[in-house]
Amino acid sequence: MIYPIVVYGDPVLERPAEPVTEFNAELKKLVDDMFESMYAAHGVGLAAPQIGIGKRIAVIDTTFKEDPKAKLVLVNPEVIGREGKQNGQEGCLSLPDFRENVTRANIVTVRAQDVEGNWFEKTGDDLLARAFLHEIDHLNGRLFISHVSALKRDLIKRKIKKLVRAGEWA
Ligand code: NI
Repeated sequence: MIYPIVVYGDPVLERPAEPVTEFNAELKKLVDDMFESMYAAHGVGLAAPQIGIGKRIAVIDTTFKEDPKAKLVLVNPEVIGREGKQNGQEGCLSLPDFRENVTRANIVTVRAQDVEGNWFEKTGDDLLARAFLHEIDHLNGRLFISHVSALKRDLIKRKIKKLVRAGEWA
């Protein structure tokens, strides 16, 4: 099932998500639906709050279907290591058409559970490191615009208000 993507303005995006405690068929179905919804929206990462579900689940595929082994499910993830710095353009399905430069760590290690509940650790660099941090931010109720200057953030918020008034913000 493809869920519509929740966009900025919905409080679910700015609330910390709840830990997952049950690893069952329902969770597996939700994860499948999250991948389907992410691909349909042309994204390389998606957090459950972005489909209106306030649970600590994220899916990532930085290869966008090219490498099936690159598909990653993070349940209850936390960042346990970060090194270096990268600076690059970042966007978000919940802030369509806005892209800004965001400085992030360049090598990031996460600890998370898989869909069965098994804990694992994974280290990623470049785009994967950025995706880890971006998606885990979502689970903490944080959007990438919180990493840009207050001036830029206010400008983005004003543009969005205009779009809302014009009925052009989903
Ligand atoms: Ni996002």
